[in-house]
Amino acid sequence: MSAAGTGAGTGAGAAKGAAEGERVYDLTIFGATGFTGKYILDEVLKTAPKSFPGEQQPIRIAIAGRSRAKLERLVAALPTTGQETANCRKVDIIVADAQDERSMRDMCRVSKVIIAAGEAVISACIQEHTSYIDISGESEFIETMMLKYHKDAKDAQVTIVHACGFDSIPADMGLLYIKQQMVKTYPGSLPVSVEIFCKLDGLHNLEGEGRMRQIQKTANRPELPKFGPLLQVNPLPHWNTKVEAYTVPLFLVDPLVMELSQQLILQDDDDNQHDLLLQSPVVQVAAYACIPTFAILTKFLLALVTIGLFAQLRVGRELMLKYPGWFTWGVASHEGPSEEQMKGTFFVETFFARGYSKALREACGDDGEELCRVQPDVELVTSVSGPEPGYVATPKLAVQAAYTVLWERDRIPRGVLTPAVAFVRTTLIERLIEQEIVFSSVVKK
Ligand SMILES: NC(=O)c1ccc[n+]([C@@H]2O[C@H](COP(=O)([O-])OP(=O)(O)OC[C@H]3O[C@@H](n4cnc5c(N)ncnc54)[C@H](OP(=O)(O)O)[C@@H]3O)[C@@H](O)[C@H]2O)c1
Repeated sequence: MSAAGTGAGTGAGAAKGAAEGERVYDLTIFGATGFTGKYILDEVLKTAPKSFPGEQQPIRIAIAGRSRAKLERLVAALPTTGQETANCRKVDIIVADAQDERSMRDMCRVSKVIIAAGEAVISACIQEHTSYIDISGESEFIETMMLKYHKDAKDAQVTIVHACGFDSIPADMGLLYIKQQMVKTYPGSLPVSVEIFCKLDGLHNLEGEGRMRQIQKTANRPELPKFGPLLQVNPLPHWNTKVEAYTVPLFLVDPLVMELSQQLILQDDDDNQHDLLLQSPVVQVAAYACIPTFAILTKFLLALVTIGLFAQLRVGRELMLKYPGWFTWGVASHEGPSEEQMKGTFFVETFFARGYSKALREACGDDGEELCRVQPDVELVTSVSGPEPGYVATPKLAVQAAYTVLWERDRIPRGVLTPAVAFVRTTLIERLIEQEIVFSSVVKK
């Protein structure tokens, strides 16, 4: 086949499957030759069950990319050179170039679920009715793709889920988790606001800085209702006694993704909306990054100012891409972190929620205005934590998201979605807990 071909002796199978519209692969990793792609492949090989629950047929995996030679080297380095054995999965090759639409559609046509990052994948997936897990953490990209393709994806009955890496499954699913836990812990209560604090320990790079950008104003999306006392993000760096750290507004894509999750439920005014709002009521959110010491805070602010200034000029942007270490006190690099650095890094996101108890709601007669005049009377703290975010946690998160789409398709809405909207009715959180992404037990305050 011209574009989609396999490397481990099954090329004809893939071509035949494509011609017949048959899905030859359960899971295809596009961009598998990249830094993150290789870790995602490792994670799939470690965790993919031999077959679907209740089925005999083995799970079929492919890696895809533009260079057949690189893909073949990757397969050759696998313990069994791509052959199925008792403990190893067989991995086939699909050659697909993001610049070549036909090759992208060929890849999508033979795959049930694709994990990757990029627009070409989204449009090809919609055209070929293939589910897609995207790991990119770019605000503008996520927002633009949602505006451009949400309706097409819904019409085509396709599920596309954005932000399925460290950006932003821990934050988005963590927010959903604390809402659900509050209602479980205090039956009949209504969560109204959540503060989120993101802490990276053993921080080896600040790649999120490069992605810092103004969150775009969302076109045609419903304004989120504000219930209860107003919660505002404190824009100034300050010492926060709740987390014993300096905090600054969170610079990752998480705040945008959490906002989109809440807006999507309001916007998609369908039969499911009432049920979804019960499971995930709209709350006010303020998200912060934690910075442990004044010295690091100073470096962080200096790096921020420098990046802001250099980003204004083309030559400045080129310099930053070429020498990222100069602009981030040596913490960002092209090489990515070493195994040792990854072992010493982990994340914790802590969620502080406030809400109205059932008793208070009844006393106020559920009158919104009356409630807003009183302070919330129930509080809850939960956390989501895990290993190194970029290359250890992200593959775990993306792969479990992909399995959830494969196995729980009937519980997942269609459209271009965020994690909390896609997975609200699924067992993704339980799956993540099994993979050492810890959703803490609830702490009552
Ligand atoms: N959400 C998160 O927390 C998170 C964490 C980590 C990474 N990510 C995202 O993951 C993505 C990949 O990051 P990375 O560091 O792994 O990048 P990378 O090492 O540069 O890998 C890029 C991959 O894309 C492939 N590629 C580039 N252009 C292509 C084209 N025209 N057609 C087909 N394949 C093409 C490359 O193939 P070649 O090998 O042939 O060049 C390579 O496999 C980025 O979007 C990053 O933001 C997200």
